[in-house]
Amino acid sequence: MRKPQRLTPEQASSWVPDPPPPGGLVDWAQFFPKPGPVELEIGFGKGAFLVASAEKHSDVNFLGVEHERKYAFLAASRLARRGLTNARVFAADGSRLLALNIPAQSVSAIHLYFPDPWWKTRHHKRRIMTPAFLLAVSKALKTGHPFHMATDVEDYFLNTLKLLENCSSLSLQQAWHCRDMPPPEAVVTNFERKAHAQGRSVFRLIATTKAEHSGSNIKVE
Ligand SMILES: C[S@@+](CC[C@H](N)C(=O)[O-])C[C@H]1O[C@@H](n2cnc3c(N)ncnc32)[C@H](O)[C@@H]1O
Repeated sequence: MRKPQRLTPEQASSWVPDPPPPGGLVDWAQFFPKPGPVELEIGFGKGAFLVASAEKHSDVNFLGVEHERKYAFLAASRLARRGLTNARVFAADGSRLLALNIPAQSVSAIHLYFPDPWWKTRHHKRRIMTPAFLLAVSKALKTGHPFHMATDVEDYFLNTLKLLENCSSLSLQQAWHCRDMPPPEAVVTNFERKAHAQGRSVFRLIATTKAEHSGSNIKVE
């Protein structure tokens, strides 16, 4: 991996702020210089989607959460180099942050692309996709707003569909898979580019929050 360019302390504190302590809620108005809808990407890896999305949609604010610090700083240095102030990065655990630090009904979209598959059955419990995670997703999202997920692991996808069937706060809108290379103007992740280049299928879904379950009455353990 290319060595991330070192950020100045000022850049680092702007683009990779310390996550709030457990229970402390992110104040979006303090967090981004300009007001606007907030979209969250969890597990952004090297940050291709996050950086390209922030560049393409200057009226939207993006928060990326990545628990590998070296990737968080790599993406932050890309954002800093491009002067993209509508994106910030937390080097933190996305599920915990979502459950504990994101204000209810404050996010316009949540993106989860190519979550770690944890191939071995005995490791499946480490997968980020759990009923509690989906509940935290639905709590953070504004009513009717989308949760986007993609993976190249069919079993992971089918399992996510099953979890969604049993999730009272999200409803599946669309599920599909494709092998075709996305058009050149599409914003894609590194893993997605790799999957398409190797001719593998990519499985995608969009789910939205149900009105009757939105807001702070959802309790996330
Ligand atoms: C397979 S990679 C996919 C990266 C990127 N989304 C893509 O599609 O190119 C999964 C990424 O999720 C990160 N990750 C896994 N669990 C996480 C968690 N609980 N919170 C934040 N990041 C996480 C990993 O460090 C890794 O960078």
